[in-house]
Amino acid sequence: MNRKDKYYKKAKKQNYRSRASFKLIEIQNKFNIINKNSYVIEFGSSPGGWTQVIKQFTDMPIISVDLNAMPPIDNVLFIQGDILNYNIGKPIRETMAKNDIESIDVFLSDAMVRTSGIAERDSYESYTICEQIMVLSEEFLKRGGNVLLKQFQGEMTNEFLNKWKDKFQFYKITKPHASRKESREIYIILKGKK
Ligand SMILES: C[S@@+](CC[C@H](N)C(=O)[O-])C[C@H]1O[C@@H](n2cnc3c(N)ncnc32)[C@H](O)[C@@H]1O
Repeated sequence: MNRKDKYYKKAKKQNYRSRASFKLIEIQNKFNIINKNSYVIEFGSSPGGWTQVIKQFTDMPIISVDLNAMPPIDNVLFIQGDILNYNIGKPIRETMAKNDIESIDVFLSDAMVRTSGIAERDSYESYTICEQIMVLSEEFLKRGGNVLLKQFQGEMTNEFLNKWKDKFQFYKITKPHASRKESREIYIILKGKK
C-alpha cells in the first residue's frame, strides 16, 4: 500500500503531525462537534495530528491521552496511560482538578491498537476501547456533551450503538474521505448527552 498518499503529502505541507488530521477537520466542519468554549478530552492522541486540529476549534485547555509519548503542544495536558487500565479515571480526575475543569464538553477518540488484519479481532479490540471510553463519559462528560469515536466496524457495532445511542439526542455513523476506503474504520458521532 502506498502510505505516501495525497493526505500524507498534504499533512506534511500543512505541518500536521499525521494524515489523520484531515478526518477530524472534515467531521468537525460537517457535524460541528467542538466549539470555542469546549473542554475536550481526546483518547489515542499520539503523535498529535488531531490535537493540532482541536486547538484550532477550542480556546480551552485540551486533555490528551495515549499509551505513547507525544511531543508537547501548548495548552495541552497530556496523560501517558492506557485507556483499558481500570484506573485511568484517576489521572483524568487529577488533571481536571488541577486545572479547574469541572466537566468535559467533548469526548474524542481516534484510539486503535495496531491492526492485526483479522477483521473480527480488530473490530473486537476497537469495540472494547470504545466501551471503556463510554464508561468514562458517564462520569466526565457533561449533559449536552458530544462524542466522536473511531471504531472498526464489525459484529459488535450494532450492539454498541443500541446500547449508547438512546442516551444522546442524535447519532450518526460517518466515514470521512481521508479514511482509506479499504479500511473498516468508521466514526461514530453521538451528540447531546441526555
Ligand atoms: C491512529 S493513532 C492516533 C493518531 C492521532 N489521532 C493523530 O491524529 O495523530 C492511534 C493511537 O491510539 C493509541 N492507543 C491504542 N490503544 C490505546 C490504549 N489502550 N490506551 C491509550 N492509547 C491507545 C496508540 O498508541 C496510537 O497512538
